Amino acid sequence: MNQNTTIDTDRLPKHLAIIMDGNGRWAKQKGMLRVFGHENGTKAVRETVEASAKLGIENLTLYAFSTENWNRPKLEVDTLMKLLVNSLKNELPTLQNNNIKLSTIGNTNQLPESARKQLDEVIEITKNNTRMTLTLALSYGSREEIVSAVKAISEKIKTNNLEISDISESTINQHLYTSNLPDVDLVIRTSGEQRISNFLLWQVAYAEFYYTDILWPDFREKDLHEAIISYQKRERRFGKTSEQIK
Ligand code: IPE
Ligand code: IPE
Ligand code: MG
Repeated sequence: MNQNTTIDTDRLPKHLAIIMDGNGRWAKQKGMLRVFGHENGTKAVRETVEASAKLGIENLTLYAFSTENWNRPKLEVDTLMKLLVNSLKNELPTLQNNNIKLSTIGNTNQLPESARKQLDEVIEITKNNTRMTLTLALSYGSREEIVSAVKAISEKIKTNNLEISDISESTINQHLYTSNLPDVDLVIRTSGEQRISNFLLWQVAYAEFYYTDILWPDFREKDLHEAIISYQKRERRFGKTSEQIK
């Protein structure tokens, strides 16, 4: 069955966000080290990115490394950083061939210089691509993002560039890392965990959540399609009644 035929491409999530979880457990099940899971997770990233672009999703955000992930063992953190650099190098043709623009959210100043350099390069090369924006959440924490927004807004008030009475939801939106992205419509989390882990707390206010037991390295195009089919069966009411929607 071609699942594509059951997806309504006029009603795709405008912004899909994925918590890519379960690499460590995937490796452990195979009697391997956790880093083997991360290595194999990159294949799922490539397939998901290509499948999302093919469907016509305009914004895909992937949670790749959280502020809390810095607390993992040094070997694991170092390997993740190396994998990031290698993947950026290897996947540049994928991004170019699919007309995908790369962007990041998070405190990327904390990343090693090699990773920052590689990121800047790919961001620069892909900046005029228009089919899909791929945003990598790297050294990302939603609480930290909110703190930095509060600081930036306070600074504007202090320097008389903003009135307190003018602060609105849109002011906050404009000061988040995601200022150029629409609200998240759908969050997918793999590996069976059902939590948000400090990801886009403000931006998911009215998102739909989809959980699957599949571990991230096993996540494939058909799993993405299943998630979107589930999303399209839901009624998003935004506080209204079902009758008002119809
Ligand atoms: C997700 O897989 C990747 C990152 C958080 C970087 P995990 O490494 O969290 O895998 P599990 O949850 O331990 O199985
Ligand atoms: C969330 O996964 C972060 C990423 C997917 C990058 P974790 O595996 O770190 O989340 P917790 O700590 O189990 O909630
Ligand atoms: Mg995990």
